[in-house]
Amino acid sequence: MTLFSLFNIRILVVSLTLVSNARVLADDIVLEDFESGTYEGWSITGDAFGDAPATGALPGQMSVSGFRGTGLVNTFRNGDASVGTATSSEFTIERSNIAFLIGGGPHKENLGIELLIDGKPERAATGPESEELEWSSWDVSDFTGRQARLRIFDRATGGWGHINVDHIIQTNVPPKRFDLEFKLAEYRKSADYLNEPLRPQAHFTPEINWMNDPNGLVFHDGEYHLFYQYNPAGNSWGHMSWGHAVSTDLTHWEHLPLAIPEEDGIMAFSGCCIVDHRNTSGFGSGQRPPMVAVYTGHGRGKQVQNLAYSNDNGRTWTKYSGNPVLDINNPDFRDPKVFWHAASNRWVMVVSLANEKVIVFYASDDLKNWKELSRFGPAGTKNKPNWECPDLFELPVENETGKKLWVLEADMGSGSIAGGSGSEYFVGHFDGTTFTATQDAKWVDYGRDFYAPVSWSDIPETDGRRIWLGWFNNWETCLVPTSPWRSCMSVPRTLTLRKQPSGDNATYTLIQRPVQEFRKLSNGVIPLNTTAAAWPPVAVSKPAELTDMNFILETTLQPGSARSCGIRIRTGEDEYTEVGYDREPGVVYVDRRKSGNVDFHPAFAGRHDAPVQLIDGAAKLSIIVDRSTIEVFINDGEAVISDRIFPTSQTAVIEAFAGDISAKLRNTTLQQLKSIWKN
Ligand code: FRU
Repeated sequence: MTLFSLFNIRILVVSLTLVSNARVLADDIVLEDFESGTYEGWSITGDAFGDAPATGALPGQMSVSGFRGTGLVNTFRNGDASVGTATSSEFTIERSNIAFLIGGGPHKENLGIELLIDGKPERAATGPESEELEWSSWDVSDFTGRQARLRIFDRATGGWGHINVDHIIQTNVPPKRFDLEFKLAEYRKSADYLNEPLRPQAHFTPEINWMNDPNGLVFHDGEYHLFYQYNPAGNSWGHMSWGHAVSTDLTHWEHLPLAIPEEDGIMAFSGCCIVDHRNTSGFGSGQRPPMVAVYTGHGRGKQVQNLAYSNDNGRTWTKYSGNPVLDINNPDFRDPKVFWHAASNRWVMVVSLANEKVIVFYASDDLKNWKELSRFGPAGTKNKPNWECPDLFELPVENETGKKLWVLEADMGSGSIAGGSGSEYFVGHFDGTTFTATQDAKWVDYGRDFYAPVSWSDIPETDGRRIWLGWFNNWETCLVPTSPWRSCMSVPRTLTLRKQPSGDNATYTLIQRPVQEFRKLSNGVIPLNTTAAAWPPVAVSKPAELTDMNFILETTLQPGSARSCGIRIRTGEDEYTEVGYDREPGVVYVDRRKSGNVDFHPAFAGRHDAPVQLIDGAAKLSIIVDRSTIEVFINDGEAVISDRIFPTSQTAVIEAFAGDISAKLRNTTLQQLKSIWKN
């Protein structure tokens, strides 16, 4: 699938969202909610409005959402060609604003709603070119006490020749476009706030709505920032903006307001954040260095690189008035990652020419003026469509003292090892201008649900770790069955390289381990007796030992002469997720074919294999399970399998199995994880 079609699918997905735009302030006056089933009080002309308000999409129309209750005006009656007007009876203007939900076509001359005073249009609004209704409002304080009417008009007959209107109110506090604050306030009152049965308790999730890639990971003034691709309007992809959270320990997160919004039809796509310690950009306003976000502006047929800056620890952001800072007139040019390259004393950017599968390197002295240095690619997995979200950093080799190598990572929207989207990396050298790979590409993760990982900038040298996390999802199966939020992030992982095996054939492998801070969530280590493991699987833990479905399970699989052995988690009636070793073909796998709800997408069920070399005849596993996630770290991080699971069973039964009596599961332990959200 080309990225173009991928984005089309994402746009279609938006139209399938049902967003509740409910908002009631005691002081508001509802002028019309179109809930009575009639147009009583309105005079109708033409055929576009029909005899009564619509109750959603009309025949031949994409799904309509974002309206309130069941009724709305929808002039798609008889298609786009129909025309007409609906004029309200007279009312007195008694509040400072008139607000309404509006969707449909954007032709302001021929399509919209207007405020008539003495029969003359004084205010007007048209549709957003979307079937998702959003709030719009007029300041009418000049007309307080005057008599007025509203007229909804449709004179447009071509594409997008229809308008959708609902819930017209007089108010002194006009709702924001998507009224995210209101929806959040409502959600925060709910009994299962951050605690729905499938909501991970040890992984970051947004409170409500859709999230994809992590963005702008940066450490500043004692806080780890996590920005992320976010839809303020609903629970599927669209209106991409930067959401925001902070943590002081990479484990407990505080949700913060939207940081960088979509504006004027330009979405804020993925990018990075750095601390401009030398104030090279001139954005700093005080003693302390500014935070600068470098992100892709997506809209008007192209993708460009933009800046925004913050002088208050990321709490408020200003978009640079000179945007874009990099525009090569290309529709697939995105996801900049910038870092300070000390040796050449300048900023370096890696950014992707996505559809060409090429990474471009740029340099700048001030973050505003960029010059191209070199290009890398196309490379990696052959004939696979694209690369996005690149990252470039230097890592220590843990078994070669003092040695460091560079790693270039990039993400493919489809066609990866486990199917759908996934990440690959190259190990090599970067001299400040050019990246040279010294070995073939390798897979970052062998599961289906680890994408667009990006590493933290500005972690202090005294700490020295390179840490990243990824989007715990896959574009192909991204509409996972969770609500009112969608997606979580992986556990933050520390990165190093390991040389293996030694000798002439040695290559370097990326080693990923959960950050040590994650262990603080453990409630203590419970040894499990798995010595009796045999076929068929036997239960090794009593449900009482687990009070929630989030735990770390560690075990060493020693297959002996058996073909396979392993463990099943979240076992219920005809339901389990299996993690095992399979001698043919020599892999550790996660099999989620029977993991619960697998029917929401035909590509979801499957088994995902990571090739492993047994060490002393065994594979050591550290498995993190968190309600709807499983991450299997193999042989101290040399391979990882990350998968989402959606069990229907709430039992905590864990089972072990072994192909024959020579197989053993040794040193098996269980650690219940504390929730990062409770208290
Ligand atoms: C990767 C990606 C990025 C883009 C963002 C849009 O998942 O496609 O390339 O910036 O998502 O949400």
